[in-house]
Amino acid sequence: FVSLIREQNLHSMLVTPVVYEEEPIGLLTLYVDRNHRFNDDERLILRALADLGAIAIQNARLYGRVFSSEESLRKSERLTTLGTLAAEIAHEIRNPLMVVSLLFDSLQLDENSDDNQKKDLSIIREKLDHLDQIAGRILDFGKSREAFRKNLPLRAILEEAALLVRLKLEQSQVTLAVIGEFPDLLVFVDKGQIQQALLNLILNALVAMPNGGELTIEVVETFDRKVSVLVKDTGQGIPQEFKDRIFDSFLTARSDGTGLGLTISKRILRAHDGDLELLDSGPMGTVFRMTLPVAQ
Ligand SMILES: Nc1ncnc2c1ncn2[C@@H]1O[C@H](COP(=O)(O)OP(=O)(O)OP(=O)(O)O)[C@@H](O)[C@H]1O
Ligand SMILES: [Mg+2]
Repeated sequence: FVSLIREQNLHSMLVTPVVYEEEPIGLLTLYVDRNHRFNDDERLILRALADLGAIAIQNARLYGRVFSSEESLRKSERLTTLGTLAAEIAHEIRNPLMVVSLLFDSLQLDENSDDNQKKDLSIIREKLDHLDQIAGRILDFGKSREAFRKNLPLRAILEEAALLVRLKLEQSQVTLAVIGEFPDLLVFVDKGQIQQALLNLILNALVAMPNGGELTIEVVETFDRKVSVLVKDTGQGIPQEFKDRIFDSFLTARSDGTGLGLTISKRILRAHDGDLELLDSGPMGTVFRMTLPVAQ
């Protein structure tokens, strides 16, 4: 700055702040290459220029805001259209699929087929079910079902979910522990939806622990009328390349997975003013955190 003044041989300078809505947002500086005493008129002109400059800057900022909100509006509009389209396609696929399924089952009554053929048939049956499952989940996803929320004891919700997977846990040699101090804590939720999210997490954890392990559900009450439910497993961890986009739809490492479990679970929690986050995942295991609203 000093070298610039020397280089340009500047002698006098008049500075005025650029102020917008009582906030200084910059300085406007006028230099003269000789000794000069600025008079009142000159000061007024510079002030006016600074005010005009402030308005121009502010306008540019506002336009920027308009453009970016317009863009995000467009994006959500596109997503809605895409969602509707996906649901329509899923619906259209499901009808012929049902016919194929029914006809297929009647074909299978033929007992003359050899072993290889039987194997092929069972694979076809499995894939048909898989297709139907995908179509069904897309339809569920599209439905913005009004959540039916009530004040319910968190303990009962967790215990019920544990009961539903009891057999699967035993088969997979996985032990389940529910920990945390929350004797009569009530949460304001749609029980069916929260259990669906919880089951998604538990089943994912089971898949990640094919040789057994420990599943821990830990309840931690936070201060902002929310409660965290941590679901921890001692499984192999989430593949590195999945970590950043684990909640994206159709992301799956399983041949029989739809890759919608986590997407739907997150959506459910968000609709509850809560959230579902991946806290940690590595070769020692994975931790997901569900955040739920405490009863009003
Ligand atoms: N606890 C976990 N440990 C390790 N990997 C996990 C865990 N949870 C999720 N993943 C990985 O994230 C992928 C996506 O999970 P998500 O539940 O969304 O779909 P999915 O289980 O593959 O299929 P589905 O829609 O039938 O649930 C899984 O395929 C798995 O690779
Ligand atoms: Mg899953």
